[in-house]
Amino acid sequence: MLEKEKSWLLKEKYNNKPTKKYYKDVERLNSGEPLDYVIGFTEFLNCKIDLSRSPLIPRPETEYWVSQELKNIKSGKVLDIFSGSGCIGIAILKHSQSLLCDFADKDVGAIKQVKINLKINNISSARYKIIKSDVFDGVKSKYDYIFANPPYISTVKKNKIQKSVLKYEPKSALFGGKDGLFYIRKFLKDARNYLNPGGQIFMEFDFIQKRGIELLLKKYSYKIWEFHKDQFSKWRWVSVLN
Ligand SMILES: C[S@@+](CC[C@H](N)C(=O)[O-])C[C@H]1O[C@@H](n2cnc3c(N)ncnc32)[C@H](O)[C@@H]1O
Repeated sequence: MLEKEKSWLLKEKYNNKPTKKYYKDVERLNSGEPLDYVIGFTEFLNCKIDLSRSPLIPRPETEYWVSQELKNIKSGKVLDIFSGSGCIGIAILKHSQSLLCDFADKDVGAIKQVKINLKINNISSARYKIIKSDVFDGVKSKYDYIFANPPYISTVKKNKIQKSVLKYEPKSALFGGKDGLFYIRKFLKDARNYLNPGGQIFMEFDFIQKRGIELLLKKYSYKIWEFHKDQFSKWRWVSVLN
C-alpha cells in the first residue's frame, strides 16, 4: 500500500523526479500522514482541492451523494454549510454557471482554505460569499438548496477511527458530541428558516444515525424527506423538501 502511495506521490507532485524534498515527503508518509496532505491537494468531482490548510480531506462518499443530487440541479442559490475545504460548493459552482453558492464554516483555517480553492478553480467572486459562522448565526440570506456535511462522528466511537485520521485531520471537523448529533440537531432546528419555499436540504450523516435523524425531522415539523444510500450501500444522506 505504502509503495503505491509513494509512486503516486512521485508522479503527482514530483513529475517522476525523486528530489530531496520527495524523500522528506516519503518520511511523512512513513509516519502515517495521509497521502492527500503530503501531495497537498486532492480531486473532488473534477475540481482541484488544495489542502494546504489541513481541512477535512474530502471523502468519496461525499463526492458520490453530491454528484447524485447535482443531476437534478441546474440553477438557483445554494448554501454550502460546514464547508471545510469548500469541495462541495466549488463542485456546485463548476457544475453550472447559473448556480450561485455561499460558503459557511466556523473555522478560520477553513475560511482561508475556501478562498484558496475558489481562486485555483477560477470562480468569479460575483458568484459566492464566504461567511464565518457558528452553524447559522452568521447566515443572513435564504437559499434554494442547502448542502451540509456536518461533523457527525460520535465521540464514543473515537477508538474505532483510523489512527491517521485522528492524528492529522481537524477534530472540529469530525466529532458531533456523544451521539454524533450535536451539530445535526442545531442544523435541522434552524435550516428551514434559511430555505426559500420549495427549497431543499441535503445532509450527510453516519448510517447508524438514520433513526435519530428521522425523529429530529418530525420534531422540527419537516414534512417530506427521503433517505439515500451511498456507493457502499450504507445510509449516507437525507434530502428534505421545504
Ligand atoms: C465534516 S467537515 C465537512 C467539510 C467539507 N464540507 C467536506 O464535505 O469535505 C465539517 C466542517 O464543519 C466545520 N464546523 C465545525 N463546527 C462548526 C460550527 N459550529 N459551525 C459551522 N461550521 C462548523 C468544521 O470546521 C469542518 O470544516
